[in-house]
Amino acid sequence: RLPARVKIVEVGPRDGLQNEKTLVPAEVKIQLIDMLSEAGLPVIEATSFVSPKWVPQMADQVEVMRGIRRRPDASYPVLTPNLQGFQAAVRAGAREVAIFGAASELFSKKNINCSVEESLQRFEEVTRAAKEQSVPVRGYVSCVLGCPYEGKVSPEKVAQVAKRLYSMGCYEISLGDTIGVGTPGGMQEMLTAVSREVPISAIAVHCHDTYGQALANILVALQMGVSVVDSSVAGLGGCPYAQGASGNVATEDVVYMLHGLGIHTGVDLQKLMDAGVFICRALNRKTSSKVAQASCKL
Ligand code: HMG
Ligand code: MG
Repeated sequence: RLPARVKIVEVGPRDGLQNEKTLVPAEVKIQLIDMLSEAGLPVIEATSFVSPKWVPQMADQVEVMRGIRRRPDASYPVLTPNLQGFQAAVRAGAREVAIFGAASELFSKKNINCSVEESLQRFEEVTRAAKEQSVPVRGYVSCVLGCPYEGKVSPEKVAQVAKRLYSMGCYEISLGDTIGVGTPGGMQEMLTAVSREVPISAIAVHCHDTYGQALANILVALQMGVSVVDSSVAGLGGCPYAQGASGNVATEDVVYMLHGLGIHTGVDLQKLMDAGVFICRALNRKTSSKVAQASCKL
């Protein structure tokens, strides 16, 4: 029943760092991405082409894109909320982008300063331009299991937004439990609704671990046929527009679980842990990965 292989989308350099209060030097970000490439991650979300007034930590996006050493078989998508961001990303050498919508009106307003419907219109401009330039687009839906401003979010609303993103050309839809409130039952219900509109092979799960539910939620998703999982090295992260959102599930912990289940990831756990040690030292922070803690490296 479980997939034979899982694609891990490493979001640490973007989701992991975007919420850091003190500016992380571009060289540190570049070295982190290079170490993650070394560890065999197939997809590494590198940075965001968003407004520096909104997310100052991502203001060095061009320098980061220019500085990284790209593994030819890996991809390095970047977030682009609108056409302006898309054009800047392509100019900086991005070959894949991600648009990010939400299943909650209030979250959309706080995060990207527009309604869900307005955001979908902006995203259509991005997907149209991306198609012309053969740039693959990934689509995010935030707040799929709950919203910091609206509370409950209905699975039907998530399915509607996911369907819109998929029909405008996103090759994959990443379903974000932005504040990590979901539990396995809710995940199952939500995935059942979304998989009526989007093929399961095009669905990814993006779990924050605020309530410690992420691995359980991921396991349920795997059992339902999902084979793409977003995670963040050392469990770094949080969204600046979702107060209390702690880190994404740690990539080390996901890889440990998947390998234990006999699922292929292509990731070298030891090298991944080295990347975790590197970024935690640079941030002067303890790792949030249980696996890394258990290995007594920090
Ligand atoms: P706005 O203020 O409504 O934008 O922000 P605007 O179009 O009115 O323009 C205002 C100013 O922003 C102008 O500059 C534009 O040039 C500039 P000014 O004339 O004042 O100097 N601007 C830009 N600058 C750089 N890049 C751009 C860009 N667009 C406009 N692309 C906007 C709208 C979307 C720009 C803003 O709200 C924003 O940047 N939001 C980003 C928020 C963000 O990055 N959040 C975190 C990522 S989402 C997340 O973490 C969730 C996820 O992980 C999944 C999950 O966990 O659920 C993905
Ligand atoms: Mg996130």
